[in-house]
Amino acid sequence: MEKKIAVLVGSLRKEAFSRKIANELIRLAPKTLKMEMVEIGNLPLYNEDLDVNSPKEWMNFRETIKNSDGVLFVSPEYNRTIPGGLKNAIDVGSRPPGKSVWKGKPAAVATTSPGAQGGFGSNHNIRQAVVFLDVPMMQQPEAYISKVHELFMADGKTVNDKTENFLKDYMLAFEKWINHF
Ligand code: FNR
Repeated sequence: MEKKIAVLVGSLRKEAFSRKIANELIRLAPKTLKMEMVEIGNLPLYNEDLDVNSPKEWMNFRETIKNSDGVLFVSPEYNRTIPGGLKNAIDVGSRPPGKSVWKGKPAAVATTSPGAQGGFGSNHNIRQAVVFLDVPMMQQPEAYISKVHELFMADGKTVNDKTENFLKDYMLAFEKWINHF
């Protein structure tokens, strides 16, 4: 059966390596996964006061996640942790109390960095946040995509063969994970 997967990218810049990797994960995903990029850059900053009458962007986002069968986070690391925009999206989806859209939603996280550590801190801080939200997060394979700027072919979009194989295997594991639920 086809499963709808929301793809959330932690960087808001147009030429983001994390977005390029997310695009490649979408391209390489097994056919049973219907991958949809969900934009988070337009979400007003979470403020409990506004939840009396939630902004429409929050409502649309919550609805989109609610209607998904799974979530794929692809993110860089900012100051050794989660970029603020992505943390905001996680917070928006988690409220109001008792109405979190994350609960039970299977997920996976891939982090990227031009540096050597592949966004390890960001990866594990995303994992930390979703433990509280009762998101079953795929444990293996882990994806810390280091030296990300060196992984692309001359077109600047397509990854090299070795990376493609890794991303393909990652998505096959993700498909299996999603189908547990
Ligand atoms: C960074 N960068 C960075 N890289 C890293 O490996 N660990 C880190 O803690 C940080 N911290 C950090 C903070 C801020 C505010 C910025 C803007 C950048 C560098 C970062 O990995 C690099 O700019 C990436 O290219 C950003 O990801 P995208 O936009 O290419 O996906």
